[in-house]
Amino acid sequence: MSSPARKKVLLMGKSGSGKTSMRSVIFSNYTARDTRRLGATIDVEQSAVRFLGGLVLNLWDCGGQNAFVDNYLSSQKDTIFSNVAVLIYVFDITSTEWEGDLRYFEDILFALRENSPEAGIWVLINKMDLVDKEDPKRRKYEERKSDLLGVDERVRKELKDDGIREVLRCFPTSIWDESLYKAWSSIIHTLIPNISLITAHLTYLRDLCLAVEAVLFESDTFLVIAKSGSPLDCDPTDLDEMEIENGGKELDQQRFEKISEIIKGFKKTSSRNHEQYHGFEAKFDDCTVILEPLTKSTYIMIISVDPRVETGALLYNVHQASAHMV
Ligand code: GTP
Repeated sequence: MSSPARKKVLLMGKSGSGKTSMRSVIFSNYTARDTRRLGATIDVEQSAVRFLGGLVLNLWDCGGQNAFVDNYLSSQKDTIFSNVAVLIYVFDITSTEWEGDLRYFEDILFALRENSPEAGIWVLINKMDLVDKEDPKRRKYEERKSDLLGVDERVRKELKDDGIREVLRCFPTSIWDESLYKAWSSIIHTLIPNISLITAHLTYLRDLCLAVEAVLFESDTFLVIAKSGSPLDCDPTDLDEMEIENGGKELDQQRFEKISEIIKGFKKTSSRNHEQYHGFEAKFDDCTVILEPLTKSTYIMIISVDPRVETGALLYNVHQASAHMV
């Protein structure tokens, strides 16, 4: 068996922005409420997460207090910023020190682009739940995003970057809703080595089932790994720009991540009651849905709107397919 691909993921941002909270909700089954008892991270906390058998994420959760960050940028610079696959930088939208936050971010970007030029950069503007009610159009988020893109451009210019490298990508997040899953699913999607093959298999199975959508979830985190459906055979981040219409009704672009959040919560409640979540099937007037284990490390959701399709047929196809998927 080939050894799994190892990817170094840096989790950075000012103290209290929510880095350890995110990591704990996604990878350690914490609820958002549980994170209130987390203490500040001292220096760097490393952990390894195995994902889908073929991928190991080496997560470096870098404590965000100024003294630590100054060290990362000086004596620890080579250790921290070399061989990075992805930087996830977390901002607190409620921060009152935005100018200072940006200066630190710029220093980090320089260090990263110099030491790991190919690294992907994702910025999560967190704690959106605290501002969404006063600012439903998310103007503050858009302003912050535009400042961040400006910083990225300045860094590239100074490093005489020819523009080949990807620009940073920004997501609004909150640990209290599915936006956290949306952001992390998009990030992880880019790290899975054979993702186009997985998506091709998913599409093949969806066609066989006469289904409109098929979605693959990782079984522990319930992050969305791949999607297939008429407008869905793409990088999940592209969906942000896309109008998805369904018979005149606009579909919720975070509908699968909502399912991630709901099922994860349900699994947690089940295990507290010494029960195990095995799967879900439902038949509505014009729609059949199943959400079943596909392999040891994945669940699959299939949605059909063809009235001829029976739940049993979908289950049979998934059972047959599981033998071909690892
Ligand atoms: P350091 O370890 O010091 O670098 O901080 P950190 O970035 O890891 O912050 P941490 O995850 O410890 O979170 C600090 C506090 O913010 C905790 O009390 C969390 O419950 C809270 N928090 C994190 N994310 C959110 C969010 O999306 N919304 C709200 N309202 N609170 C959050």
